[in-house]
Amino acid sequence: MEKLQVNIPHKAAYSYDILIGTDLLAEADEFVRQYSKANKFLIVTNETVAKLYRDLLNIDNAFWLVLKDGEEYKNFDNLKLILDAAVEHRLERKDCIIAFGGGVIGDMAGFAASSYMRGCDFIQISTTLLAQVDSSVGGKVAINHEHGKNLIGAFYQPKLVLADISTLKTLDLRQLKTGLAEVLKYAFIEKSCAAPLYYRLFDFLQQNKKDIFDMKPDTMAKLVEICCTLKACVVNQDETEKGLRAILNLGHTYAHAIENLTNYTVYTHGEAVAMGMKMAFNLSMTRGLIDKNYYNQAMELIESYDIAPKGAVFDKEKFYDEMFLDKKAQNGKVRFVLPDSPYNVLVTSDVEKQQVLESIKL
Ligand SMILES: NC(=O)c1ccc[n+]([C@@H]2O[C@H](COP(=O)([O-])OP(=O)(O)OC[C@H]3O[C@@H](n4cnc5c(N)ncnc54)[C@H](O)[C@@H]3O)[C@@H](O)[C@H]2O)c1
Ligand SMILES: [Zn+2]
Repeated sequence: MEKLQVNIPHKAAYSYDILIGTDLLAEADEFVRQYSKANKFLIVTNETVAKLYRDLLNIDNAFWLVLKDGEEYKNFDNLKLILDAAVEHRLERKDCIIAFGGGVIGDMAGFAASSYMRGCDFIQISTTLLAQVDSSVGGKVAINHEHGKNLIGAFYQPKLVLADISTLKTLDLRQLKTGLAEVLKYAFIEKSCAAPLYYRLFDFLQQNKKDIFDMKPDTMAKLVEICCTLKACVVNQDETEKGLRAILNLGHTYAHAIENLTNYTVYTHGEAVAMGMKMAFNLSMTRGLIDKNYYNQAMELIESYDIAPKGAVFDKEKFYDEMFLDKKAQNGKVRFVLPDSPYNVLVTSDVEKQQVLESIKL
């Protein structure tokens, strides 16, 4: 088992550990008690995860709340169900809400924990690759509003994140790939994260594709460890996205437009991110920020993981409006994260419309 530490500067109370390993569910009771003084636990999960793993997760003094599965349930109604359960079971402030599932459950249960009694203990037991490499680290918690994704939320750090690699084996290929899109993202931003160690994630992804798709436990554990370390490193430097944290949005300016244009029903988040990263590389290339060699290598790596669907065609003007109109109306700026040398990115709002339009191609 690997143990990583997330240290939010000036907030010693908000530092926490990430435990990564296989068959951790069986030992979860021991871990959660080590990290929380709670007497009672409310385990929030969904029907899919409960069916697969409820029997493996034995935590004493725990109440279970099993919600419906799907992004469309990350809403006020289900937030209320969590808070109702906390009230019904008379959880106190030192008690603990455990999110057991992917990013949807993690975001929603975390937001419930941030507001229940102005903040009770919170633990993430993440079961998707996306949650293990991305959403469970960094403290962003939220629900969706009918007018926007993750519109209502908070920054709220867990007491512990448990990433049991063994749970990944039941993910379907599409869910695995959606997590892998975020993993690729870390490869392209690795240098900008300024982590103490240089992992060469890009090379690792080039060399270990077969083991990754076979979900070899050691390989997956290493991937999760590298990505969590990089994300933790960025979050430690900029918890609330005042600067550096924006680099985690490589490909996401485009991806959000794709998701909005297709009402979140056509592509998974990772598929949209993979397409978005290609577009970001196109823009970098047009602007002369990177050379053809790195551009080709990066595009080949994205292609080789076969995440971005082939043949997607977008109305470029609509796409552009989707990216810019909302933000302009709010006097906001659209930030682009652009590769500017191997494994390094810059963040800029200074882009030309024509170049952005040209970059919208796959
Ligand atoms: N907080 C953050 O920083 C952050 C970052 C990225 C994404 N997110 C959020 O995360 C969410 C997406 O997360 P996700 O991709 O994990 O989606 P998800 O939670 O919907 O999980 C994907 C699917 O996999 C199923 N599942 C979960 N674990 C499984 C397992 N071990 N085996 C088989 N199936 C399993 C789920 O039931 C679901 O059907 C979005 O709501 C997004 O906004 C948050
Ligand atoms: Zn993402």
